[in-house]
Amino acid sequence: MEVIIKDSYEEISALAARMIAQVVRGKPNAVVGLATGSTPLGTYQELIRLHKEEGLDLSGVTTFNLDEYVGLPGDHDQSYRWFMNKNLFNHINIDPANTHVPNGMADDIERSCEEYEEAITAAGGIDIQLLGIGENGHSAFNEPGSSLGSRTRVKTLDEETITDNARFFENMEDIPRYAITMGIGTIMDSRAVILLANKESKAEAISITVEGPITAMVPATIVQMHPKATIIVDRPAGSKLTREYPDRPARIVNPT
Ligand code: GLP
Repeated sequence: MEVIIKDSYEEISALAARMIAQVVRGKPNAVVGLATGSTPLGTYQELIRLHKEEGLDLSGVTTFNLDEYVGLPGDHDQSYRWFMNKNLFNHINIDPANTHVPNGMADDIERSCEEYEEAITAAGGIDIQLLGIGENGHSAFNEPGSSLGSRTRVKTLDEETITDNARFFENMEDIPRYAITMGIGTIMDSRAVILLANKESKAEAISITVEGPITAMVPATIVQMHPKATIIVDRPAGSKLTREYPDRPARIVNPT
């Protein structure tokens, strides 16, 4: 596990985008796993800039997002499909048919979760997966207590996550209680993972994830088992880490 602490949100975003771009340049048909939330927004802005100003070609890339709310259609402005279109896909030269977000409106949700796993396998597996982290240590929507071997499935959201999300919805009743999420096992199958965090509010979760014991109660701790995990945090998010993490260039991720 490589831990990189940077001075600013701009720097962690630029580094994450550079690592993804490096994979895509080395493998133009790379499969990239994407995340939602406020944390990856800077990474997406930087990827858009790399595309527009530095010719990063994303036309052959396939993407799989981590999660989606159950009951929100893709044209709902709080759905993760909407978020991805608005914040990334609409601004780069990716083929929309190659962008995948779990379908929160599927009639047979269980079957659609299986199909999501099958689609990832058919695409050749995820080359690099971007992750955020919840304040309670959740990863995607794998809440505390999630099986560390879990696959894509429906999860009931924790009260803490629902409260965190409340700011995005007008009424408490509108906040989804369930989500489809890639499992921890699905995430761990990715060839490389980048876990990004900024702000002081993530410091505790980052300290346990990096320096604590692996536990299903803090699902993100499983990244300690990943052979190619890079944890990129700004100083406030890294403020509760106790070991020294020297500033050094990020490892080169070689796509297979
Ligand atoms: C949601 C998402 C997670 C994300 C988390 C943190 O729960 N499902 O993938 O990591 O929010 O969001 P933020 O980046 O806004 O702090």
